[in-house]
Parts: sequence; structure tokens; C-alpha cells
Amino acid sequence: MEIPKFSQTFRGKIRVKGDKSISHRVLILSGLSEGITKIYNLSSADDVKRTANILSELGVKIKEKDGQNYVNVEGKGLYLNFPQSVLYAGNSGTTARIFSAILSAQKFPSVLDGDESLRKRPMKRVVEPLRKLGAKIWGKNNGDNLPLIFDGIGKFRGGKNFLLSVPSAQVKTALLIANFWSDDPIKVKEPSSSRDHTERILPIFSVDLKKDEDGFIFCEGKPISPGFFNVPGDISSASFLLALGILGKNSEVEVYDVLLNPTRIGFIQALKSMGADIEFWVEREEGGEPVGKVVAKSSFLKAQEFKGEIIPLMIDEIPILSFIAIFSEGVFCVRDAKELRVKETDRIHAICHNLRALGIEVEEYEDGFSFEGLGKDAEKKLKNDYYLKSFGDHRIAMSIFVLGCVIEGRIFVDDDIKSVVSVSYPEFFSDVQKLLVRL
Ligand code: S3P
Repeated sequence: MEIPKFSQTFRGKIRVKGDKSISHRVLILSGLSEGITKIYNLSSADDVKRTANILSELGVKIKEKDGQNYVNVEGKGLYLNFPQSVLYAGNSGTTARIFSAILSAQKFPSVLDGDESLRKRPMKRVVEPLRKLGAKIWGKNNGDNLPLIFDGIGKFRGGKNFLLSVPSAQVKTALLIANFWSDDPIKVKEPSSSRDHTERILPIFSVDLKKDEDGFIFCEGKPISPGFFNVPGDISSASFLLALGILGKNSEVEVYDVLLNPTRIGFIQALKSMGADIEFWVEREEGGEPVGKVVAKSSFLKAQEFKGEIIPLMIDEIPILSFIAIFSEGVFCVRDAKELRVKETDRIHAICHNLRALGIEVEEYEDGFSFEGLGKDAEKKLKNDYYLKSFGDHRIAMSIFVLGCVIEGRIFVDDDIKSVVSVSYPEFFSDVQKLLVRL
């Protein structure tokens, strides 16, 4: 398809649907807890639907009322029902990694599978530590790939510490919640911080989060429903709209009621250091998370190098940040981001491929890439027809769409980006329409 040509000006105030990472966690904890949880503003992402469907297959009652902005989850406690079929995580790595812990701890066998992309993603990072806790897991490549078969063991053998080799919020979450089914603590520590939503939401479900003197975290207690939970807007979805505010002509985009957790706003800090006109205000706390608004305006950008501890804090925003960097002066560089190679697609390859298709010379490294931005007139320099590829990855697809909205040339991209985008942000195209200033 060809990306439609708009006016190149984007203005307005907008609210996005609930954060995907938090939506997975609140659904799972509600399902495992005692009591009913009313969840407001749950993400409508396909990934989150996978988590909800798996919980339903395992006997958790999830009711959504038409026209209402909440779902009701009737918790089943820690031991769920034997499922009638293979559990399908679709494209969702978070679902697959967290359910690996839950299924290992049940009292029945089960099978977990995913789509073509998820079947290629590494599972060893969660399977190995779970095996050390007694889990019985089989799968392709000695359990490194889906489909995985679990023979539920009912209880973990705790009393173990895990020092992760790469920061991973999914693995950290799987090991933290494994404590629910263990008498002795299961402790985890990361080399640097990843998103900390699990640490923030556990106390909301009356579970005590603890840290030992060596910095390992673990939790004590079983989840009890808080009654209701309001999911803040998805800051990763918002990043694409904010990009339109920065790259559009005479543009200003405000996203409100959005998650502003410091472990998720690395890209705002990165954009600020590139000179972007972007500001955020934390206005309140909700469900243990800071929430507020972000305003982004048309900006001149200087390229920068990003590496080290900021990388996990903006890992999902590196595709859009790199596309924004096309409009910057100087050399833009990302290092220490090898994890991008094992996301929904190899995102380093996907970014480099598309930049090259735009005629930009790119240096590719195992853990990142660098290129010289086209500067402030990039939209005029990109005046030809370009054929880009989403690689079936939602964040690459939305980055391409944003670029297509702001350059003078025409961008053609694979036809199925609508379904690709719905993995995380089904409202993306209609939200872009709301911001567009008609000529
Ligand atoms: C997520 C964690 C991140 C992120 C992913 C969602 C989560 O992956 O990239 O999109 O919800 O826990 P890691 O487990 O590699 O941190």
C-alpha cells in the first residue's frame, strides 16, 4: 500500500488506550488473585487479547461489557483449570515468558505456542532459570523455542538467586511471580534496570516486594484483588504521535493521561538531548505509576550517540527514534542494543534495511547501527518513491507510516500493516487522523 499524503501538520490533544505492558500484568494478577477486579482502560492490543484468551482457557472468567471502558476479571487463585487446547500466545513475548512460569507451577500438563515470529524468539532465558526451580519443560532446541510443553509441578523449589545476564522485564516478572508457588524465596537481579511495572503492581495486589542487602528482589504473599485498576495510557503507542508533533510542520501534539514511568521514558530523555521541543509533566500517581501529559512540537534536531543504561529504558522506541533521527544533523548512533535482534523481528536489520532503502548509508554493528542524519530539510530531500518493509513488526510498521506522513516523497509498504499494527496499537490510524490538520 501507499502511505496516504496528509497536510504534514499535526495538532491536537489526545488520549491513548491503556499501556500494553501494564495491561498484561493487571490481567494476569487479577486472574491469579482472590476476588473480582474491574480493570479500566485495558489495552485493546492483540498481544493483550492473547493473555486474556489464555487466562480464559485456564478458567478465569473475563467479562467485557459493550460500550463500557472496563473489563471484569473473576480471579481463580493460583491454581487454574486444565485447558482444553494448546495455549496460543500469538506474537506476544510477554505472554509467552510470563506464562512459562505460571504453567510450570500448575498441577496439569499444558502446551504453549506462538506465531511464526514468536516461535523464533529465545525462550531459554526463562526456561533455564525455571528448570533450576524444578520446572519440567520440553521444547524445540532443548526448550529455547516454542512450542513448549510443561508438565506442571505444583510448587517450585525456591531458595535460589538469579543474576540475569541481560536486563529483561519479562524474565524478571516470570521469576518474581514464581514466588507465589514457592515456600522459599526466588530472588532476581538485573545488570541494569528494565521496566519496573511488576515491582509497582505487586503491592497494589497486596504482595510485599522485598530487596535483600545484595540488591536481589523477591516477593512474599499471594495476590488479593484491589477491586479496581485504571491502566494509564500507553507511552510506547504515544511515541508515534509525539514523533508526528516533532517532525510535522508547525505541529504540536499533546498526549494526556499517559504513563510517565522513568523506566519507560528513555526516548523522551533521548529526544531532549537531541534538542527536541518535548516536555512532560507528572500530574498524579495511579496504580503505583506516575501519570501525566507530554507535549511535543516541531523541532530542529542534533544527532547523538546512545548506549549503556538508557537502552533498556527506550528499547521499544528505538525504531521510531531512529526514524526521527533521519531529520537530525550529525551522526546518530545506537550501541549496546543487541536485544533488538531478538524482538518481534531483528529490529537492527529492519531499521538498517529501511534506512538504506531511503538512500541513507548505514553502518551496522552486532549491537546497533550508525548513520548521518539528512538534517532539517530531510522531508524535502526524501522526495522520491521508496519501497519499505515492515518485516511483520508493529513498531517498524508505525515508524514507516509516521515517516510517510511527513516527507514529500511517496512511501510504499507491505499491504498488511493494518493487522501488523494491531499487535500493540489498533487505534493508531484513527488516532493519526484525529491529529491531522486538513489543508
Ligand atoms: C516487556 C518487556 C520488554 C519489551 C517488551 C515488553 C514487558 O522486553 O521490549 O515489548 O512487558 O515486560 P524485555 O523482557 O526484553 O525487557
